[in-house]
Amino acid sequence: MIGCTVQAQRIDVRSSYETRRIGELIGKAVQGGEVLALYGDLGAGKTTFVQGVAAGMGVDARVTSPTFILLNEYISVAGRRLVHVDTYRLAEEMILAEAATFGLEDLLAGEFGAEDVVAIEWADRIESLLPDDVLRIEITAGRDDPDARTIRITATGERSNRLLENLQI
Ligand SMILES: Nc1ncnc2c1ncn2[C@@H]1O[C@H](COP(=O)(O)OP(=O)(O)OP(=O)(O)O)[C@@H](O)[C@H]1O
Ligand SMILES: [Mg+2]
Repeated sequence: MIGCTVQAQRIDVRSSYETRRIGELIGKAVQGGEVLALYGDLGAGKTTFVQGVAAGMGVDARVTSPTFILLNEYISVAGRRLVHVDTYRLAEEMILAEAATFGLEDLLAGEFGAEDVVAIEWADRIESLLPDDVLRIEITAGRDDPDARTIRITATGERSNRLLENLQI
């Protein structure tokens, strides 16, 4: 990206609590307008991470994966909106058409407010709809310890860079 250094962090965690805690730090650091793109296999910990983000933003509701609908919305105590998207249920061959139907395309094209934050599970399935500036969060399982995960966070633009700079991990 021009005029923008790409920053990255790699964090090794050993429990779902720690994954949630990293999400919480991000939730505390968001300023609005960020898109969090989550990558990782089934059960990697994407929803756990988003639960942390919600807690960090001061969302006072139980965050579960939006399994039967594409997205859930939460409002934080500060009035910020967290849009939690899970593209897993989109039929493979219909992904882009369905994403448009659900308004996801508009949402990602900047229709969401400057105060809002969008977190997307299985972001790889709608890669072509993602804006240039996202915070990529890749969660991979460890080989030996079933509770170990490696979380790689990469900023790909100005806003996500700022978020990563403000992170104290
Ligand atoms: N370090 C860890 N981080 C996150 N989850 C962990 C960790 N260790 C164990 N787990 C367990 O792995 C599971 C992660 O589930 P979660 O729903 O967050 O994954 P997911 O990536 O959202 O899955 P899906 O692809 O089905 O949406 C939970 O049962 C959690 O307790
Ligand atoms: Mg999930």
